[in-house]
Amino acid sequence: MYNRRKMLLWAATTVSVAGFCAMPASAQETVKIGLIVPMTGGQASTGKQIDNAVKLYMQQKGDTVAGKKIEVILKDDAAVPDNTKRLAQELIVNDKVNFIAGFGVTPAALAAAPLATQAKIPEVVMAAGTSIITERSPYIVRTSFTLAQSSTIIGDWAIKNGIKKVATLTSDYAPGNDALTFFKQHFTAGGGEVVEEVKVPLANPDFAPFLQRMKDAKPDAMFVFVPAGQGGNFMKQYAERGLDKSGIKVIGPGDVMDDDLLNNMGDAALGAVTAHLYSAAHPSQMNKDFVAAYKKAFGNRPGFMAVSGYDGMHLIYEALKKTGGDTNGDKLVEAMKGMKWESPRGPISIDPETRDIVQNIYIRKVEKVDGELYNVEFATFEAVKDSGKTKK
Ligand code: PHB
Repeated sequence: MYNRRKMLLWAATTVSVAGFCAMPASAQETVKIGLIVPMTGGQASTGKQIDNAVKLYMQQKGDTVAGKKIEVILKDDAAVPDNTKRLAQELIVNDKVNFIAGFGVTPAALAAAPLATQAKIPEVVMAAGTSIITERSPYIVRTSFTLAQSSTIIGDWAIKNGIKKVATLTSDYAPGNDALTFFKQHFTAGGGEVVEEVKVPLANPDFAPFLQRMKDAKPDAMFVFVPAGQGGNFMKQYAERGLDKSGIKVIGPGDVMDDDLLNNMGDAALGAVTAHLYSAAHPSQMNKDFVAAYKKAFGNRPGFMAVSGYDGMHLIYEALKKTGGDTNGDKLVEAMKGMKWESPRGPISIDPETRDIVQNIYIRKVEKVDGELYNVEFATFEAVKDSGKTKK
């Protein structure tokens, strides 16, 4: 009897040791995600938000999916597309990643597109917002947003709310041009007039000279698009030039009022009305839990880039569950198409035709809540698709 028990024990140990040895050592058992984001330079806040959100997701959901261990390899491209391309190449060729993800700006997402196509692996865009991006590779799936989604809605809102003359200030690159085009289409179709149009450089913009022109044009409001990370500096110069005192309200897509920076913008931001995918004040229980967990882990509020990164990880995890851990890129992209889930931002899905995100767009106003500045949502447009690909 004793010997039989000993034998069984020995057999069980041998099997589990053999199983253990075979598993983590084998490259096939690890799924690798190459996360390329700007961790330095002017767009660093985007990279930090996404990196944080990816860590939070993995902390909450674990690092094993469909029996495979998830490994994230973080690379800083400083939002320079030549770096993105080189890093994506290295990740694909040397590290043999199964996904590339992140991409803080449009030029970075575009630079990686041909590599995703060639390697036949999913490129999960967690930040960039120009409409054409998903058309550049059948392997691109986006969890962020497009500028068309929010700019069309704020254009219509402006007309309905008695705004007749607008001056525009947009960052002079692809998403800024999308924001301007789609805002103008809707605003002028409703009878609005654009009285001044300025474009500011993407890198280290000095807004002061442009703001003087805005003030002189005496518009009812100013439409602003600057990418995540630049809103704080913009609003500082807006207040210094006294635009808040002259009654020229800020409207636009919500990038300029990123929750990440909003609370340090001061009272000049009060009353700004923007249309966007996410507010840290979104009143769902899921968002309250998300904000609390993010604050606990990192000491500050999540912004819209954080939620886009969090959802990007969810998309990857759920796609792997659907393929049963199979990392074939075509199967993964197929699994992602049409996927629907509840995000801290509200209900979202992946359009099966365009692989782009479908999401609610909220109109929000900056208000003080318990002594802190928040984008308080007051109107919801449900399940908004990107209109930028067909209308341009
Ligand atoms: C982009 O480069 O596509 C981009 C970056 C930051 C934003 C919006 C768009 O907030």
